[in-house]
Amino acid sequence: MHDLRERYQRVPYEDFVSPLTDPGLSGTIARLYGIPAVSADGCRILELGCGAGLNLSAIAARHPSSHCIGMDLVPERISEGRQRAARAGLTNIELLQADLADFNWPGERFDRIIVWGLFSWVPDALKARIFEIVAACLAPGGVACICFLTYPGCKLNEGLRDLMTLQSGDGLPQERLATARAALTTLAEAGAMGARHHSSIQAWRQQAQELLGKSDALLFHDELGSDYDPCYLLQFVDWAAEHGLAHLADADTPGGAEHLLPPDMAARVAAWSDDPLARDQFADYLTHRTLRTALLVRAEDAVTAAFTPAAVRELSLGSLLQPLADAAGFHHPRGEDIAVADADVATLLRAASAGQGLRRPMGEWLAAADDAWPRVGATLFGLFARKLVSLSQTTDTAQPPKRPALHAFNRLLLAERAMLVSGHHQPMPLPAAEVAFLRRLDGSLLRDELLACAEAQRLGGERSQQLLDVLWRQGSLLTG
Ligand SMILES: C[S@@+](CC[C@H](N)C(=O)[O-])C[C@H]1O[C@@H](n2cnc3c(N)ncnc32)[C@H](O)[C@@H]1O
Repeated sequence: MHDLRERYQRVPYEDFVSPLTDPGLSGTIARLYGIPAVSADGCRILELGCGAGLNLSAIAARHPSSHCIGMDLVPERISEGRQRAARAGLTNIELLQADLADFNWPGERFDRIIVWGLFSWVPDALKARIFEIVAACLAPGGVACICFLTYPGCKLNEGLRDLMTLQSGDGLPQERLATARAALTTLAEAGAMGARHHSSIQAWRQQAQELLGKSDALLFHDELGSDYDPCYLLQFVDWAAEHGLAHLADADTPGGAEHLLPPDMAARVAAWSDDPLARDQFADYLTHRTLRTALLVRAEDAVTAAFTPAAVRELSLGSLLQPLADAAGFHHPRGEDIAVADADVATLLRAASAGQGLRRPMGEWLAAADDAWPRVGATLFGLFARKLVSLSQTTDTAQPPKRPALHAFNRLLLAERAMLVSGHHQPMPLPAAEVAFLRRLDGSLLRDELLACAEAQRLGGERSQQLLDVLWRQGSLLTG
């Protein structure tokens, strides 16, 4: 019996939707860096180590004209995923049981490849295999999204892993988990007592508490697995390059160090190196980074690629920013006020907050001169890098649908897990009253009929309207 397969059979991994694997997001970032990535609609998507395929199924539902293929080692997870896809009526997803070690994809190439929760948790030979498969299967202009554990943040986690594994030995999973949790709890509690004596205890204590917050499945596989192998960003980039793959950006921090850090810190790091990668590596110390989400492209595609902010012209803009009363700037619901000096950008943001131009390329509705777009794009990219606006390749009708409908996959998630996956690939857990209302969104009722139904009345008219509006704005409703 394959050891790893047995581990996953004994303690099934939880199903996740990972927002950073969004093929729309990777395509958008690629376009901004000058890679001609095709839209996430009508493309081919591969996920390696997909588990039961929840993440990939959400992508398949969101992009019905794309074809999605997922593979995983554990047959039970694959059959679970196939059954769920069948229940949701998904016909554009195939889930295959296979071992990466001998997986040779003979078919067409893929425009997106996703590898989430796998790379740092397998032996080096399989890591090399992942790079080989990605390099062989990536289409021209394609983008791979690979997450990996990274130093220096994981140095601390390695210490905690040592503490847990030294104590827990080779027993049954439940025994090992209990011993690991006891060790973390003791460290957190004793650390709280000693924090005033040694300031370094504080870091151990916080990290122990973070790990204690993980479910058994996550603690067992992510922290106590047989392989736990972080590396530095620069090491990952070099290794990918040996396989003909170039690092384009990080999906979580696409603008790199300068957008991540407060301006004075960013300036200090900028003075240290001209190389953006070296700056990002440095910034990982200042942010205690433990996980990265690398977007890789074929090395030959990267040769001519360059940061192209004017590409925002082809993208649509999403924003929760609200104009401030004194017209001096904008307010973000997470509690941040920002000043926007560029008049074109301010026009775009005001229009977006009023619901105009939603999911339409900005170049179609902002009458800006050709030479204005690099400047507008650079400012919008800065806001995008700070997660204050969203940019997207997906464009469709600007009109809210007459008969609002959620994809059957989302209605299934509402019924089975009281959640749905947004148009930005964000999992949204919901309270029972909202679930009851949203389950009515099957396309059979006109908007007014929906707002008059018993579930909407129970929820309250204002909240029902708000929900419909939010879902439409974030592209979670089916069009038509
Ligand atoms: C930590 S889970 C992540 C699952 C999924 N990507 C997610 O994020 O929810 C790792 C997955 O990789 C799969 N896996 C591990 N080694 C593999 C191999 N050699 N071939 C194929 N799949 C493998 C496991 O079965 C498991 O489902």
